[in-house]
Amino acid sequence: MSKKLIAFSILAIFVMVVGLAGCGQQPAKPAEQPKPKALKVGSDTAFAPFEFQDEKTKEYVGFDMDLIKAIGKQMGVEVEVQGMGFDGLIPALEGGQIDATISAMTITPERAQKVNFSKPYYKSGLSMVVKADNNTLKSFKDLEGKRIAVQIGTTGADEAKKIKDAKIREFNTAPEAFIELKAGGVDAVVNDLPVNEYYIAQAGGKDAKIVGEPLTSEEYGIATAKKNTELADKINKALDELKKNGEYEKIYVKWFGKKPPQ
Ligand code: ARG
Repeated sequence: MSKKLIAFSILAIFVMVVGLAGCGQQPAKPAEQPKPKALKVGSDTAFAPFEFQDEKTKEYVGFDMDLIKAIGKQMGVEVEVQGMGFDGLIPALEGGQIDATISAMTITPERAQKVNFSKPYYKSGLSMVVKADNNTLKSFKDLEGKRIAVQIGTTGADEAKKIKDAKIREFNTAPEAFIELKAGGVDAVVNDLPVNEYYIAQAGGKDAKIVGEPLTSEEYGIATAKKNTELADKINKALDELKKNGEYEKIYVKWFGKKPPQ
């Protein structure tokens, strides 16, 4: 074999080997980090001041929305909020369509069997709303045998169902329950106190009022799928951090005009 042919063969083999090696792998790009997946968060976004749509920007806003964004930032992930019915949130978590929910969701033993809850992030309770000119319904005791509107799948619905002889009307959203009260289709709405207060302050003041003492004392939690304990831990850590660094308090004051209870 001539020297030329040998040199050519070596070159040819080299080209083939290098060429093949290139097929298997993408050249490494050391500068680029793999982007962490966005956190998909489900919420029933008709529950002001926790989650609702800004009429002008069409963006989801509220206490929960600010809190979950701050948690995402703390965790270094993008947050993607998906609007869905309240009673569909836990099934969506179980089915893996979403990673977490933030939706003014009360931590209850029944729900805690199906999902993980974060540490409580808001203290709440149920109250009742009646028409502004109603002077007979003054407390939960007076609701016996009355017509009550609630949001489907909520603690308000559960508690209202315990009231003797009450006729319960269930609506997909809390605003629909308020509309029914205004229209005279029901005598009262049983729903979360801070949401009732916001409704009265914003729109319903001339039509409706809150009466009586809160019926329950409840706490809201962020839910994640049972098996995803890693995410639950991260959310708790982020929440702790936001409480320590004052960010949680800032968001609380923004939406409720006062400091969070200790
Ligand atoms: N706190 C109540 C519950 O957990 C009502 C929550 C309703 N939330 C909502 N975004 N619609 O049952």
